[in-house]
Amino acid sequence: MATLGLPDSPGVPAALAQLTLTVPFNDAEAAAGVFRRRGDEIAAVIVEPYVGNAGFIPPEPGFLAALRALCDQHGALLIFDEVMTGFRVAAGGAQAQLGVRADLTTLGKIIGGGLPVGAYGGRAELMRLVAPEGPVYQAGTLSGNPVAMAAGLATLRETERPGFYETLERRTGRLVAGIVDAARRHGVPVTTGHAGSMWGLYFAPGPVRNFSQAKASDTALFARWHRAALARGVFLAPSAFEAGFVSSAHTDGDIDFTLAQLDAALGEARAR
Ligand SMILES: Cc1ncc(COP(=O)(O)O)c(C=O)c1O
Repeated sequence: MATLGLPDSPGVPAALAQLTLTVPFNDAEAAAGVFRRRGDEIAAVIVEPYVGNAGFIPPEPGFLAALRALCDQHGALLIFDEVMTGFRVAAGGAQAQLGVRADLTTLGKIIGGGLPVGAYGGRAELMRLVAPEGPVYQAGTLSGNPVAMAAGLATLRETERPGFYETLERRTGRLVAGIVDAARRHGVPVTTGHAGSMWGLYFAPGPVRNFSQAKASDTALFARWHRAALARGVFLAPSAFEAGFVSSAHTDGDIDFTLAQLDAALGEARAR
């Protein structure tokens, strides 16, 4: 299995880590090199199409298509982890937005409407391998939990309202543009990005194309900004390496309030 863009985790046992090959995100050449050397052994490539677990890193044009082509050439599966991007970047996830189709897709979070749920899906011939039709047994105590399913269905119905994604994207764009503006006024280099309702920022001049570059951002400033924002009633994710999300429950007034507090918090964080 080749994993892309995921940070090394000290919690993963070495014996399991040895079964994976890790390649930097947005480096199609490195992925091609791994396939050249170990292509026969690679069962699948799993990747977040927009990396949210290192902040927010968009795929560069052609990167995901290159992975698709490598998987096709070598008979490997392409798995998109759309746990963050699913129903956020677009109704059809990052793959609908970017036009690259994965063989298997993982989903979570948003499809539970706030309740715990995860799901995966894929091409019919792959899904037919899963129980009860196929030999791959899969079941769980809470699988298909009716309360989580009802909440998820209600959430998905909300997303089908006309203009839902347009409003969400506009508000997310306003939030990000306002933060860029505040950073400029405070003289802080910032790199931001957003897709649909997913957004992120690094206190770095950028560009940020992978986790190594994300780690080079000013995480100490982020930590001070986070604390100052929290004291002002705005709860950012408590890590410089987490994406942010705008919810359909956030109003334009919420965005105004948030921007005012984040602006003031940045001034406080810089002064310390
Ligand atoms: C992109 C991504 N994939 C997978 C997971 C894991 O999901 P779960 O905790 O539901 O197993 C997370 C959790 O935050 C995630 O952000």
